[in-house]
Amino acid sequence: MAARKTIGIGIIGGGLMGREVASAFARWCALVDMPVEPRLVSVADLNPATLTWFEGIPSCTQRVTDYHALLANPAVEVVYVAVPHNLHEKLYLDVLAAGKDLFAEKPFGIDLPAAQRILAGVRKSGRFVRCSSEFPFLPGAQRALDIVRKGDLGLPLQIVSGFHHSSDLDPTKAANWKRQSATCGAIGVMGDLGMHAAHLPLRLGWKPSRVYAQLSRGFTERPDGKGGRATCDTWDDALVHGWTKIGDREVVMRWEMKRLAPGATNTWFIEVLGSERGVRFNTGEPKTLRVFERGTDQWWKETHLGFQTPYKTVTGGIFEPGFADLIQQMWAGYLVEREGQLNGRFGCATPEEAVASHEVFDAALRSHLTSTVVSLA
Ligand SMILES: NC(=O)c1ccc[n+]([C@@H]2O[C@H](COP(=O)([O-])OP(=O)(O)OC[C@H]3O[C@@H](n4cnc5c(N)ncnc54)[C@H](O)[C@@H]3O)[C@@H](O)[C@H]2O)c1
Repeated sequence: MAARKTIGIGIIGGGLMGREVASAFARWCALVDMPVEPRLVSVADLNPATLTWFEGIPSCTQRVTDYHALLANPAVEVVYVAVPHNLHEKLYLDVLAAGKDLFAEKPFGIDLPAAQRILAGVRKSGRFVRCSSEFPFLPGAQRALDIVRKGDLGLPLQIVSGFHHSSDLDPTKAANWKRQSATCGAIGVMGDLGMHAAHLPLRLGWKPSRVYAQLSRGFTERPDGKGGRATCDTWDDALVHGWTKIGDREVVMRWEMKRLAPGATNTWFIEVLGSERGVRFNTGEPKTLRVFERGTDQWWKETHLGFQTPYKTVTGGIFEPGFADLIQQMWAGYLVEREGQLNGRFGCATPEEAVASHEVFDAALRSHLTSTVVSLA
């Protein structure tokens, strides 16, 4: 294996996503033709018990409760921040002020003004910054992108993009920060899941020019995990109906974000339909790509994809990828782009795309509250 350049990484927030990312680094040997290798050198989390898991990673010799110590560590070149949304702006700007590159978690600030201030900080700092969104790295998503980019959809008809899960159906599930507007954001589920729905459409240039949104709440009270009850005031489901332009034609586009979708477990999907061709992909059937073709007959063709990820691995081509692979693919994309070696492959969501997603969510919130169609600038 050719020598790889090692990049020192620090993680702020060692919860669900902090550990997922650390484990993707630990399996980096799976990637081939990779010029860079992340080395986790530092982790910061307010909770000392969370830090103990990182003792199992030999390179991670700095484990601290105060993230300022991580930022002061010269061995840290890139910082991944995975903390509640109310902390994004402060921590992201602190990372940039410390002269580090940033891999930010979505939604990139608690609301649109915060996202805009972060973007201004990114531009001023000149640091390399991307936002987390892993599902477009799936082979099915990449094939959908290829089909659309070929440009033979015919008359474009509709776009549907979304992310569903169902864990909030259980009223006995304890409340956490994602169920409270103060920490998740007034946009609720759109902040939690919206980047997943927005990333591919925005990458294809499909930002809605106006939206009409329907938002709804589920259980407004849950156990607080300490023997009491906690109020849950976030929007749990969001349907954002929009209009976008493909060529000269105005096309309807719906983004769906749901935490109350019966039976769904981290289900990401994209559908693009035209009069001549169309494509459907849904992680509920992670290998299955469906392609529509109109000839003498109309066909929905179905194929089972293998491991055709954007970044090559040792994994057999007929095997199927999962969430952990996507997190690794996304980081491969981040690190090679940072080295200027993306070479036409799919890259991570940009700060501009993150702000554009917030513009849509902000308009959607206003649309719901006023029951009107809201135009975007
Ligand atoms: N890309 C994805 O698929 C995906 C999935 C889940 C969550 N997320 C995003 O990741 C981020 C974190 O979500 P999570 O599910 O990992 O949350 P989590 O609650 O599991 O973890 C957050 C961690 O941050 C720590 N923390 C809080 N304040 C801190 C501070 N000041 N300094 C250091 N540590 C601090 C907490 O102790 C906790 O361990 C959010 O932005 C969320 O939207 C992304």
